[in-house]
Amino acid sequence: MTALDRHVALVGFMGAGKSTLGPQLAERLGRRFVSVDDVVERRSGRTVADLFERDGEARFRELEEKAAADVLDRRQPAVVELGGGALGSSRTRGALDTSVFTLLVETSLDDAWSRVVGSDRPLARDEAVFRTLFDERKPAYERVADAQITDLDGAVLACAGVALGARTLDRLGELIPGDGQVALVADRTVAGLYGARARDALGDRLAATYEVPAGEAAKTHAEAERLWSALRLDRTGTLVALGGGSAIDLTGFVAATYLRGIAWTPVATTLVAQVDAAIGGKTAIDVAGGKNLVGAFWWPDRVVCDPQTLETLPDEELDSGRAEVVKTGLLMGEEVWTLEPAQQVRRCAAFKSGICLRDPRDSGERAQLNLGHTFAHALEAAADFRLPHGRAVALGLLAALRLSGLEEQAALVTDVLAPEPVSVDREAAWAALARDKKSVEGSARLVLLDAPGQPRWNVELPVEDVRRALDELIA
Ligand SMILES: NC(=O)c1ccc[n+]([C@@H]2O[C@H](COP(=O)([O-])OP(=O)(O)OC[C@H]3O[C@@H](n4cnc5c(N)ncnc54)[C@H](O)[C@@H]3O)[C@@H](O)[C@H]2O)c1
Repeated sequence: MTALDRHVALVGFMGAGKSTLGPQLAERLGRRFVSVDDVVERRSGRTVADLFERDGEARFRELEEKAAADVLDRRQPAVVELGGGALGSSRTRGALDTSVFTLLVETSLDDAWSRVVGSDRPLARDEAVFRTLFDERKPAYERVADAQITDLDGAVLACAGVALGARTLDRLGELIPGDGQVALVADRTVAGLYGARARDALGDRLAATYEVPAGEAAKTHAEAERLWSALRLDRTGTLVALGGGSAIDLTGFVAATYLRGIAWTPVATTLVAQVDAAIGGKTAIDVAGGKNLVGAFWWPDRVVCDPQTLETLPDEELDSGRAEVVKTGLLMGEEVWTLEPAQQVRRCAAFKSGICLRDPRDSGERAQLNLGHTFAHALEAAADFRLPHGRAVALGLLAALRLSGLEEQAALVTDVLAPEPVSVDREAAWAALARDKKSVEGSARLVLLDAPGQPRWNVELPVEDVRRALDELIA
């Protein structure tokens, strides 16, 4: 389950950090933040401490239960902070079970105590009482939680269904929601490397395995048709994609269309897929008219990223991923590419998850993810798709940064990615740029940066400037 179209409830012990994390998470998801305690205080015109003191805990719990029910009943998905004792109500627990994505904000007892000691919280006056409550309440939090988190990125990733970490591949069986049958669709090369581990992890749930051609060759109508015809899953089934963005795009598209849509889980084995392609529910195949022309928005129930699988990735594929990491860092305004590799994946995957949860159908700010890609696609088309994607994206970033007037960042991209100009026909590249999916009446709509971390999209520039920027990328 993911937080798409659902309230996110934050539960956990007092002092866990819910009221700090809640507004930050709401901002990352583009939602309102609502604290149930605040609603109680506003409605009663009194503080929680005062209600406890003068009317007793039972009266406070009544008001809290009613406020939680009203807030969780609202249609517009929000981030809702529940008080530490709110799960004492069976009505509140029931609401969380049915239609709410619930995050348990984890903390240690000592950290929680150090944060609340000396505050006016009614149940934090006596350390022994506090410690007993902590142990009593923990199991209730764990029972309702869809995920347990300790930080903001972890919360955003959980909301997008992303499970990221060493050996997650071996936990595939438990990570895939539901208990229906599973069909595994694996990139042929990746099947040879990780297929056995995936099959072992899926155990009895695995009904069938289908291998598809390695890489982009999988994204064809013929492969989709083969899968549609061969699959025997019912509507409780889940399709699992094992591979990079290509196997994932194909499998997601088949999942979106088979039986009018079944659940699916990408297991991302390339850097591009872990920081980009597996996240956000865009699926597609290529047709004669162009790449990714036929597809659907179909959000996966879970995304699994095991950074260890990147150890076998060829250098050229790693370079493609590095270019996406640098693109993401420029959009974030953080030099994420200097972090250690697992952290790079986590930061970038969380950033993309937030954007996609805010704009799931690509009708607004998600366009920023296209930074540099209009130029990259034009160069790739002019090179008959024989240009490594990473090199094309690196060059595209250079063009976007130069047009943004950010020479310092352009120099940084040259340092980090060292892209060589390509030898392609200038007219062919220019014609391809005008045909780009994001162009309007032949005029490119670009993503530029006002500064690192401050993207602007749908920017139209004088054609001469765009042409010059493209020409500078060509040897
Ligand atoms: N849906 C989206 O939002 C989105 C975003 C970005 C890219 N994409 C799509 O993703 C595709 C590119 O995906 P990609 O860059 O992940 O590569 P890919 O899936 O095309 O795979 C590239 C190569 O790497 C091999 N490979 C994959 N994992 C491996 C591993 N762990 N060890 C060894 N070899 C491995 C594959 O067999 C293949 O030969 C494009 O079709 C692009 O359009 C989609």
